Amino acid sequence: MTLIRKRRVWELPGSSITKEELAFDRRAAMKLLGASAAAVLTGCYRTVEGVPSVAITGPCLDVPSGNPWGERMDASRNEAYSVPERAITEEQQAKRYNNFYEYSTSKEGVCRLVHGLPIAPWTIRVSGLVQNPGDYGLDDLLARMPLEERLYRLRCVEAWAMTIPWVGFPLSDFIRLVEPLSNAKYVRFVAANEPIVMPGVQASPQLPWAYHEALRLDEALNELAFLATGMYGRPLPVQNGAPIRLVVPWKYGYKSIKAITELELLEELPSTFWPTASSEYEFFGNVNPEVPHPRWSQANETIIGPNEVVPTQLFNGYAELVAHLYV
Ligand code: MTE
Repeated sequence: MTLIRKRRVWELPGSSITKEELAFDRRAAMKLLGASAAAVLTGCYRTVEGVPSVAITGPCLDVPSGNPWGERMDASRNEAYSVPERAITEEQQAKRYNNFYEYSTSKEGVCRLVHGLPIAPWTIRVSGLVQNPGDYGLDDLLARMPLEERLYRLRCVEAWAMTIPWVGFPLSDFIRLVEPLSNAKYVRFVAANEPIVMPGVQASPQLPWAYHEALRLDEALNELAFLATGMYGRPLPVQNGAPIRLVVPWKYGYKSIKAITELELLEELPSTFWPTASSEYEFFGNVNPEVPHPRWSQANETIIGPNEVVPTQLFNGYAELVAHLYV
């Protein structure tokens, strides 16, 4: 495995980020500073009374700066993972309605603020209780992991849902490559934390950046846990977690961490972002219609697009594959 040290944003050659892009991010960051601090304190965000909406203008970016993979990232569909009862969410909706607090609390604003994040070269630093620690270059990983497409339901804790065709490979393949030691019990993930190009990080210093998440090792080895590098047959846009994100479809969306830069195997339960920020969230985050969020019911969910309200399914419809993990 090639060792590549990831350059931080401020080490990139000046040509990688245009003056306009930086200027745009600074302007947006200034607006965010004033408008959204109160909203961010409320945790995984839902409309909060009295918080003015933030006007973020500028084009959305679907092809990340420095994208080395071109327009397409095709893979054959693995039909074992389908969502027969729902239509696929429109591609533009999945790429225009995002939760990515490093950029903004405005779901429609995120895709307009992602211009500055360079996604290549990208490495994931693997540490902790593993046989093979080190920096794993994403290109090397992509060369050795066969890609497949899987259709998964995505259920946000805020009670909205989408159905998305992800392209990527099982998380278990990566974990087996790094070889956990026998005392490893948890896998911790850390996201990119680049305040210079992430106005939401600057705007919300009270949040416990970098965004970090974790799974129990048996959850991480479950066949459903997936590392996505693409969606809709194209490389992931930054707003959806480029260049690599986790997808854990039986859990609320906050577990599916974007822009992963670190993976650590641990014996003790690590802290995670939302439960650290707010007592309204807990470690497991398993979708359960019978356990309401402190501020709203989880009995139903709204499908983005048709805006249809349907009953929430236990484990987001994946009980058959995951219920045994929790007995
Ligand atoms: N990952 C990072 N790094 N930062 C975030 O703010 N938000 C989470 C998750 N992953 C988030 C993140 C939440 S709350 C949700 S619902 C999903 O991303 C949304 O993914 P999407 O924007 O691709 O639909």
